[in-house]
Amino acid sequence: RDGSWEEGFVAGDLDELRHGVQACRRCPLYCDATQGVCGEGPKTAKLMIVGEQPGDQEDLAGRPFVGPAGQVLDQALAEAGIDRSVVYVTNAVKHFKHEPRGKRRLHKTPNQSEVSACRWWLDQERRLVRPKVTLAMGGTAALGVLNRKVAVTQERGQAIALSDRSMAMITVHPSYLLRIPDEEVRVRERAAFVRDLKAVRDLL
Ligand code: URA
Repeated sequence: RDGSWEEGFVAGDLDELRHGVQACRRCPLYCDATQGVCGEGPKTAKLMIVGEQPGDQEDLAGRPFVGPAGQVLDQALAEAGIDRSVVYVTNAVKHFKHEPRGKRRLHKTPNQSEVSACRWWLDQERRLVRPKVTLAMGGTAALGVLNRKVAVTQERGQAIALSDRSMAMITVHPSYLLRIPDEEVRVRERAAFVRDLKAVRDLL
């Protein structure tokens, strides 16, 4: 491991990027995580979906969105007519931030400096994949993609022009849907999530 790799490493392809993420020491989150979880999907993907950070299962598996939130995402994508295998799926932050609670590891929301540190990798994923549309799910993802604080409920579902002339769209995070206790509200919010995904599909 050498310092330049960690600090200023620019990846030539997605494999190199994966190595860079594994070696990353740009913020302290690597200390307590099992591994860095890089994005995955075809480098020709027209759609990039960005979540917040790996959860417990993603941290162990080394793959994004394989746990409960991933199941919500997969089902909603299928309903919206989007095939996950053609999507590049990643996260704003590549290491699992958590705190111990008994035997469990409780998710902690990454802060602004962790999101900024990890934008190094997200920007490289966007440069290598060059998606036509980037969907940010939740406030942390939107902060990673747009580099500003976003009111998700106000800005969701609209096409936002990015400086590289591609488009971004914002929606809620699938974990938010899992946390809604009231079934009627949950059903309504899930339908709104699928509606946003259909709006994304129409941009592709
Ligand atoms: N939540 C996220 O934001 N990303 C994952 O990969 C899993 C859960």
